Amino acid sequence: MSRERAGAFAPGRVNLIGEHTDYNQGLALPFAIAEGVTVHATASGDERILARALDCGEEDQFALADPQRTRGWRAFVRGVVSELRRAGYPLVGARLEIGGDLPRGAGLSSSAALEVALCLALLALIDVADVDRVGLARLCSRVESEWVGARTGLLDQLASLYGAPGTALRIDFQAFEIDPVPLRLESGWRLVTLDSGERHSSASSAYNERRAECCRACELLGAGSLREASWDAVERLPERLRRRARHVLGENARVIDTVAALRTGDLPAVGRLLNASHASLRDQYEVSTPAVEMTVERLLRAGAAGARIVGGGFGGSVLGLLAPGVRAPEGTREVHAGPGAHLLDHRTVC
Ligand code: GLA
Repeated sequence: MSRERAGAFAPGRVNLIGEHTDYNQGLALPFAIAEGVTVHATASGDERILARALDCGEEDQFALADPQRTRGWRAFVRGVVSELRRAGYPLVGARLEIGGDLPRGAGLSSSAALEVALCLALLALIDVADVDRVGLARLCSRVESEWVGARTGLLDQLASLYGAPGTALRIDFQAFEIDPVPLRLESGWRLVTLDSGERHSSASSAYNERRAECCRACELLGAGSLREASWDAVERLPERLRRRARHVLGENARVIDTVAALRTGDLPAVGRLLNASHASLRDQYEVSTPAVEMTVERLLRAGAAGARIVGGGFGGSVLGLLAPGVRAPEGTREVHAGPGAHLLDHRTVC
């Protein structure tokens, strides 16, 4: 059975803490946000994909069986189609309308939201609704590495696929365990994001470089991943690699501490952990920029209990935790933990 129409929504994410830990088999604590990407798919009866990106008014067309390499948002569509077919799904030709309310390139994971929404909508069109979500996250990450050139981890896709209202996800990338952690912000505490306005053109090459440095550190340590490395061993690494590894080990510990602070409702402690995470990302992992630093400063000067860069770095958004009564600087958006990726209601036709 196939459908004439299907639709899917996939949210962006904010990573509360645990940055650059996913590809190091570490820990992270993201949550899905209410904003996301929506894909409406209509079966076209031919063997082609026609995709329209509503936010920029651009189109793309290609044969299902032969998506050629390209750049920008089109690379995600072609990559998803190609990887789904490679995984054995008998996709049908379709017209795709891509919309939503997630800003691109703002560090809120619009890429993963696009991949996930495309996957769910294209699969629903062939009546596949029940998919292994970890497998789907891996497929989307292959799209990023093989079609877009960013060797990212699974953080963004898992957050989008497993998010739930009012809930952060403690993800252990070694054991592959995803545990819900209630994200209770009572008595007027708020989480906000503030866009630094910076879109770093070489962000994916710098990201890949950080990842390669972690691999090199593991080789020198004889460890399968930085999760297995001890503080003592890390101190013997060459200077730059030592700083990268120190960030990863420290960040894993901060995830554990943040979960504990959330469980006891100690939000001032969460704020201090966010600040410590940012300092480590700036000084040890070196993924901040002057525009990001100014954005962090704006939030802290306004009275934020904590502020830090979110996502891969080199621009994008800053997350701030505001205590009751603190006035958010202009341009901030309040963020809430919302539902994970899901199908939208469409009638089954045949
Ligand atoms: C990007 C990547 C993720 C993760 C973060 C940093 O968002 O897509 O896999 O590595 O950077 O934590």
